[in-house]
Amino acid sequence: MRKVLVYLLFIGIVFTSCEQSNKSGMIGDSEAVFYPQNFDAEQLLPSFALLNEPVVTSGVNDDWKIKPEYYLSEDSLNAIKIPVGEAVDLYGTGEVFGDLNRSGKDVTLWNTDNYAYGKDEGKRLYQSHPWILGVRPDGTSFGILIDNTWKQYFKLTNPIEIKTEGPAPRVVVIEKDSPQAVIKKLAELTGTMEMPPLWALGFQQCRYSYFPDTRVKEIADEYRKREIPCDVIWMDIDYMQNYKIFTFDSVAFSNPQSVNDYLHQKDFKSVWMIDPGVKKEEGYHVYDQGKAGDHWVKTADHKDFVGSVWPGPCVFPDYTQPETCEWWGTLYKDFMATGVDGVWNDMNEPSVFDGPDGTMPEDNWHRGGGLLPAGSHLRYHNVYGMMMVNASREGILKVNPDKRPFVLSRSNYLGGQRYAATWTGDNASTWEHMKVATPMILNLGLSGQPFSGPDIGGFKGDGNPELIANWMAVGAFYPFSRNHTENNSINQEPWAFGKTVEDVSRVALERRYRLMPYLYTLFHEASIDGLPVMRPVFFADTKDQNLRNEQEAFLLGKDLLVVPQYVNNPSLPNGIWKTIHLLENDKENDGYQAELKQRGGSVLPLTKVMQSTEEYQTDSLTILVTLDKEGKAKGQLYMDAGNGFGYKNGEYAIDEYSAVLAATNEVIVNINQTEGSLKSKARYYKVGLVSDEGIKFSEWENDGLIKIDCKK
Ligand code: NOJ
Repeated sequence: MRKVLVYLLFIGIVFTSCEQSNKSGMIGDSEAVFYPQNFDAEQLLPSFALLNEPVVTSGVNDDWKIKPEYYLSEDSLNAIKIPVGEAVDLYGTGEVFGDLNRSGKDVTLWNTDNYAYGKDEGKRLYQSHPWILGVRPDGTSFGILIDNTWKQYFKLTNPIEIKTEGPAPRVVVIEKDSPQAVIKKLAELTGTMEMPPLWALGFQQCRYSYFPDTRVKEIADEYRKREIPCDVIWMDIDYMQNYKIFTFDSVAFSNPQSVNDYLHQKDFKSVWMIDPGVKKEEGYHVYDQGKAGDHWVKTADHKDFVGSVWPGPCVFPDYTQPETCEWWGTLYKDFMATGVDGVWNDMNEPSVFDGPDGTMPEDNWHRGGGLLPAGSHLRYHNVYGMMMVNASREGILKVNPDKRPFVLSRSNYLGGQRYAATWTGDNASTWEHMKVATPMILNLGLSGQPFSGPDIGGFKGDGNPELIANWMAVGAFYPFSRNHTENNSINQEPWAFGKTVEDVSRVALERRYRLMPYLYTLFHEASIDGLPVMRPVFFADTKDQNLRNEQEAFLLGKDLLVVPQYVNNPSLPNGIWKTIHLLENDKENDGYQAELKQRGGSVLPLTKVMQSTEEYQTDSLTILVTLDKEGKAKGQLYMDAGNGFGYKNGEYAIDEYSAVLAATNEVIVNINQTEGSLKSKARYYKVGLVSDEGIKFSEWENDGLIKIDCKK
């Protein structure tokens, strides 16, 4: 109580101190939940973030460090102060613009269509992740999850200050001895990404918009002709008839099946856009069905809300209603039947051009159903996109029960990795936005979303050769790797800027595809325990405080360090990190490619260069061995069918590699299948032993044991 009084005296803020309720307590060995005295379950539950209701097993431990203090702010909002201690580095808060280290920053959690991150200096973007990761100087770590969808404001100081426009929420706190352990616990609480189809890990080409269908085919042809690896071509809104979702332009895209067939024949997949806004037009099947089913979000006086998006006046599905989600799902039936492979849900903050602050009025009304109570848009706004992608995913799964759905969403909320991958919205073709993409993806990863990336090359404005070459070189290592640009900008495909950029792009993407076995294994890991695919450098040594702010170099998994060419003086981890090349000759020395460094003690599986993941195989692999100072190394390879759900019934394999430098001066690599019922095939291995002098190769047929003679 003394702290509260001191605060009152010196700062003079009038607030009512509100103790935590006695419902607070431990929900695991190292997790606690805190409830305010006046917890309003009706306005706050069920949780959108948490998979299960937390069950308190005992009172909060006496020595528990992070304890939220509830109060009423000077502007009469429910507020929480959370003292976190000195010299703590704060991360997370999801999709945020700016530095990786969030200490001292403000974030507004209110999903916003934020073109070029211009609104509010990017303090609010398309997604909300009420989640903060703290790392103390000694590397111990905590996580704070504010279980609240209402509009809220975070001030990442010590104490952290949180204000919400809703009732006082409960707070879950995790305490662990490392940030990795906190992230794994977050994944247990909020779920993980489902394994995506393998093709979604390939490179992807988009623009607003390829039009008409012949242009789509041209783009596909160019990729194959120029032998630049690529898996997916994207269809933005212009394929629709007058921007009406679930329709196709009767002239320009009159036969979507033939577009998809064409792409499939050339080993491409297709992703097509679906927005939430439904054109208000009698006779249009989606509008008529939705009206008949009474599926639209209402105004405060319970009329259908109408707001303007691309097609003009639109109505919006109320995804809080289970029957609306069910209906929404059925719309995908005919759509997917044309051979569509993936779905892009855009504008789902929701963006409303003529609405207050670019969205719906806060007092719009959602009727709820099932477990969800009726409530205002202020309550449901931040989860509108999440509910939409959940409904989309379910609908797509019903239509294609044997395929892994791929949904890309602009808007989302903490836990939303369960339903969709994400991209960071409308960035710009600038160096600043290229550089900020890395900390943005990293903080998304530290907030539970491992599958993200920016528009490579930038959305707003025109790219230029230097920028695009650099961006393609680093972008080849983003978890989601897609080049995209806006409608009135110049072309941005790899070949649009001349030979140098084209060559740089090809090499960068060949490196990505070579790494596919490692990348796919990382996606598997993320789907199991939530560890991000792309990780901050400080994950290599959580006690080394020099690494805490490094936001240009990054890790892929724990074994590969990516240092983009444009980086000056990166803070890199101590220990053995050996530079590796993935392609033959001097292809990678073009002045643009990121430097790749392999961790001492690791084994990296690589496959051959391919034009798309259709060619992916693991029968013949290269493994790169970098020994640690004890002369040992370990690695893993995850394999499954690349699509479908057989892996859930054990139809996968995990091979473990363990290498050791033997007394004979040979390196002996043992290969063991440790998991899964899929039989690892007999394989040809090319084994590369990495040293300062380069990589020494030898080739072996897999008999479970490989020997490399180390002698030069
Ligand atoms: C906004 C999205 O952010 C952008 O990527 C897309 O191209 C346009 N909508 C048009 O659909």
